[in-house]
Amino acid sequence: MSSSDRVIIFDTTLRDGEQSPGASMTGEEKLRIAKALERLKVDVIEAGFAIASPGDFAAVKAIADHIKDSTVCSLSRALDADIERAAEALAGANSGRIHTFIATSPIHMQHKLRMQPDQVIEQAVKAVRKARSLCGDVEFSCEDAGRSEIDFLCRIIEAAIDAGARTINIPDTVGYAIPHQFGETIAALLQRIPNADKAVFSVHCHNDLGLAVANSLAAVVAGARQVECTINGLGERAGNASLEEIVMAIKTRQDLLQLHTNIDTPHILAASRLVSGITGFPVQPNKAIVGANAFAHESGIHQDGVLKHRETYEIMRAQDVGWHTNKLSLGKLSGRNAFRSRLEELGILLGAEELNAAFARFKDLADKKHEIFDEDLQALVTDTLAEE
Ligand code: KIV
Ligand code: ZN
Repeated sequence: MSSSDRVIIFDTTLRDGEQSPGASMTGEEKLRIAKALERLKVDVIEAGFAIASPGDFAAVKAIADHIKDSTVCSLSRALDADIERAAEALAGANSGRIHTFIATSPIHMQHKLRMQPDQVIEQAVKAVRKARSLCGDVEFSCEDAGRSEIDFLCRIIEAAIDAGARTINIPDTVGYAIPHQFGETIAALLQRIPNADKAVFSVHCHNDLGLAVANSLAAVVAGARQVECTINGLGERAGNASLEEIVMAIKTRQDLLQLHTNIDTPHILAASRLVSGITGFPVQPNKAIVGANAFAHESGIHQDGVLKHRETYEIMRAQDVGWHTNKLSLGKLSGRNAFRSRLEELGILLGAEELNAAFARFKDLADKKHEIFDEDLQALVTDTLAEE
């Protein structure tokens, strides 16, 4: 596969993820997460917002000093002081990136920045030049690009690339985009901006409408080659696009998308659990990829299918994302085949009559108890054999 088929994974768990109310992390916790991200082979780790506080500066610096295999990035507004602080924190990095941003939507420019569009372009260019004078790797983001006018985006992005930005990020800051429309926006930018080939186009989607992953995938189909995302979809308000979902969608549908990432997927579950444990944000059981039920089969028909051929009801291998195995949970919907197979795994081999009797007991118990565990099975087999 050529390098243009590779989607760069930019993880912002430690910056945008930390913007989830209640998810703040200590510097030591951030470093542990950064090490898990490095092990996952994340390309870029956004470690924080160096100017935000002395603690954030120290965390970005510690991560820049320790992480060697991923690029370490700090966010900065399009202001000299922010950019200088980011550069200072990143000084020890093997590979550092300054990520500078300014808002480009009419509502943000008018009400938040109180600036004219031409002034915004001027400030963006000045910030990118300043960042490039301190760091060879500069990313520029058009905040609220999802609600910005395409003509204005073309102008500011062309100017940012001329000033030295090598990654151009198109955030859907408020999660407003719809997949086909967001894909069309990315395609139009790539086509209309004359120097677009000098930068990698990136997307950063928020999940206010539950579309962050779908929008990110529509963007890569249209030509974006960096996706910004977070472990467990942590992030401001409804969160960001989830790293595990993006990565596994690209891997599982490689046949269709013809793209790949560098992520070492068997480490995904460990990273998810680490982030959940540190932030105290539980992962919902039915969360794709990392939820407790993501590879669990409950109904008898499904269990029977999976026992006959795993791919009847599984599109990924549980082990490919770090689960030890898939799970056939035994409950009232389970069939005889799943029951017998679980007994065999426990080393219990029953004759046809004993199996019938034990299965009848199992169904009685399953009506009273939601999930039947191995200890329940052992007990009911003992009781059955004692009665035979
Ligand atoms: O959502 C957003 O626009 C951001 C930018 C700072 C990239 O997080
Ligand atoms: Zn964001």
